Amino acid sequence: MALPSKVKLREVAPRDGFQSWPDFVPTDKKIEVIRAVIKCGVREMETTSFVNPKAIPQMRDAAEVIKQVPRQGCRHAALVPNLKGAQMAVEAGADQLVLVISASQSHNKANVRRTIEESLADLEAIFVLAREKNVPVTGAIATSFGCPYEGDVPEEDVFRLAQAFISGGASSVILADTTGMATPSRVDQLVRHFIERFPEVEFSLHFHNNRGTAMANLYSALEAGATVFDTSLGGIGGCPNVPQAAGNLPTSDVAYMLEDMGIETGIDLVAIIEAEHLLEKILGRVLPGQVMKSGPRQPELAARVCGISHTI
Ligand code: COA
Ligand code: ZN
Repeated sequence: MALPSKVKLREVAPRDGFQSWPDFVPTDKKIEVIRAVIKCGVREMETTSFVNPKAIPQMRDAAEVIKQVPRQGCRHAALVPNLKGAQMAVEAGADQLVLVISASQSHNKANVRRTIEESLADLEAIFVLAREKNVPVTGAIATSFGCPYEGDVPEEDVFRLAQAFISGGASSVILADTTGMATPSRVDQLVRHFIERFPEVEFSLHFHNNRGTAMANLYSALEAGATVFDTSLGGIGGCPNVPQAAGNLPTSDVAYMLEDMGIETGIDLVAIIEAEHLLEKILGRVLPGQVMKSGPRQPELAARVCGISHTI
């Protein structure tokens, strides 16, 4: 299949990154980073999550974050694990709900302390609430490419959840490699089969780099027909319930590669690198992103933005 001419990047650092950062990132710093990201052209963001603050204290300011962030053409999604989270997110003013359920039983139990069937039992009430309040719902399928407790996850288990989300009225689905277990051939197969089975449904790929395959997986997904990807500022991110969780695909690495291949991302590369530098300063630690270190390919820009100087 020909590569697409355009893709959409969903920025997930404010949720996936800040949830897994060991320290609580102060709310005003979160807002500062989110503002910077919106200025780079990001139009969809996973901005926070409404979860038990005892389970994930880093997200305890979810309502304040949703209330304070500027819109400026950006849709702010909130991840929710259950009906209570959905109610709180809608109340706070989230533009979209991302309802997460794992395709593997053990990960769902570890992540949200319920069986998959118990999670599915909340679905109807969540969709009723979302319809009433006119808030779109995305169904996120964690462990779509493998489970750290069970190993391989059957495609049917992934598609059973996708079907439940879509039948409920989900506007899109996220196939998440929560544990960084995907490889390009697995991605190719799942994406092609997903498109065959759900041809009209928008879907995003969410890759973690635990095993170094995330960028290769993205390329494979592109070739198979995917056009929406989750990326994270500086490459921060990780599931708190996955041993050895590693970051998401860094936003500037993906924007650099795709733009150079002639695939439009809508992201201003220099601005996103600067936002990553801001994030690095706030977090006080070197982040995994590569393009934020090496800079754009134009020598004068690399020098200006990243201080890279090549002398002959
Ligand atoms: N947001 C905030 N608080 C919530 C909540 C939500 N979505 N769901 C439940 N709670 C509160 C309850 O009100 C209750 O509060 P109390 O102790 O003051 O009475 C407490 O949490 C326990 O409720 P319970 O329904 O028994 O939940 P639990 O302890 O079994 O935990 C989850 C279940 C889903 C709430 C919890 O495991 C969770 O938040 N997981 C999120 C994991 C995550 O974010 N993973 C990364 C993203 S994939
Ligand atoms: Zn993730």
